[in-house]
Amino acid sequence: MVQAEKETAMNLPDGWDAEELARAKLLGAKIPTSANAQIFAARAPGRVNLIGEHTDYSGLPVLPVAIDRSTIVIAAGNDTGEVELANADPAWPARRFEIERHIAPYETGDWANYVKAAIQGVLDQFSARSNWRGASMVVGSTVPPAAGLSSSSALTVATAMAFMAVNQLKLDPLETAAMVARSERYVGTHGGGMDQAVSILGRRDHALFIEFDPLRVRAIKMPANAALIVADSRQIADKSGTVRAEYNRRVVECSLAARILGHALKLDGVRILGDLVRALPHRNAADLVETLAAAAPARLNANLKEAASILGVAQSSLDAELLSEGSTRIVLDSSRPLEILKRARHVLSETNRVIRAADVLEAGHLDEMGTLMNASHQSLAGDFECSTARLDALVECARRGGALGARLTGAGFGGSIVALCDVTRAEAVIESIDRGYYAQQHPGAPPEPWRAVFHSGAGASVLDLSATA
Ligand code: GLA
Repeated sequence: MVQAEKETAMNLPDGWDAEELARAKLLGAKIPTSANAQIFAARAPGRVNLIGEHTDYSGLPVLPVAIDRSTIVIAAGNDTGEVELANADPAWPARRFEIERHIAPYETGDWANYVKAAIQGVLDQFSARSNWRGASMVVGSTVPPAAGLSSSSALTVATAMAFMAVNQLKLDPLETAAMVARSERYVGTHGGGMDQAVSILGRRDHALFIEFDPLRVRAIKMPANAALIVADSRQIADKSGTVRAEYNRRVVECSLAARILGHALKLDGVRILGDLVRALPHRNAADLVETLAAAAPARLNANLKEAASILGVAQSSLDAELLSEGSTRIVLDSSRPLEILKRARHVLSETNRVIRAADVLEAGHLDEMGTLMNASHQSLAGDFECSTARLDALVECARRGGALGARLTGAGFGGSIVALCDVTRAEAVIESIDRGYYAQQHPGAPPEPWRAVFHSGAGASVLDLSATA
């Protein structure tokens, strides 16, 4: 029996196999409950993005795959009105908090803020409800943390689904994805919706072409001869510190580019570059970039004064709209200018590449897919300035080993690369990465845990663990 058949025979949702079930049971055993209590297990995968980087928060498409590494959250309802939280990994301490209408976050960087974010998201989504069950939860994950593979979204997705199950709530998968994407703002990252959408809607052996506003997906079969190699630079992509500041800065730069272009083209209500692309479907990227270059300087002062005067709006209202308020406020380092032109050039050219990539992948043209991935990396390194010397070195090693294309994946500033090659070349690519990168960066250490061939796996699902044999 092939794997999918085995799972159907056991009546498990896709993504659950004997191994995942055993993991869930081990975690479930850590929850103190009475014998007949209902215990739910929510499983959500991490992701690797093939192409379409830093486009989602501009409302423009992406092409990721859900991976075969997941976070499992086990949950049993309780009547204490509290969430009692444990993590199988001792690096993440246990937490307990009350379910209130507005849950106050822990200190920045606390892992449990992702759990709070997810629960706050569910509370906001079902705001008419008042009678919430508390939950005892245990978390276990095989998604490498801080490697740019979206371990945090896997945690928020699994938590939200487990918490909804405990409270007997159902939500359509697209709405769940949008809810969890919104909820992650709670931790202070003004991200797009890619990670949550692919974690929920991912499909085994498929990539997902995801479009936004409104959220919709098209599953694209991965060609059978394609291998995806993911390698972690071991440069920690710390999402709560400088990386968050740089990420949020890019969000502001892209939004400013969109507003200036909208103003120059006399279009009302443009907030993100996707608004423009949708309003002007026949205008090409190069043309838009030229219009932007003519409308404003390539760089603008970070205090937003110059931007406000170009847009003809009050500096204070632009500040409030772009940087938001309270604990999620974006603080811009004012010693550097905001790069408007370069960022827009990346996002608009990347959008063309993603659209092309979806067709090319579907047609099985791996060579061209690789070329698009290489061009994406170049644009991210040059125009978006989110690569690092170590990511560039890894990408080079992968290409030298025979990868058809290689690029940083995720937000960048550290984290992982993804390389595409013919399955017959996978070993050679890995060898080249080991020799050219890990042996130099981490002499003597076995590189096995840091790089592997990844497979596209199924999206998130929840099951009643107490009902499985
Ligand atoms: C992070 C964010 C995503 C996306 C990528 C960059 O992973 O969570 O929403 O913006 O960065 O493409």
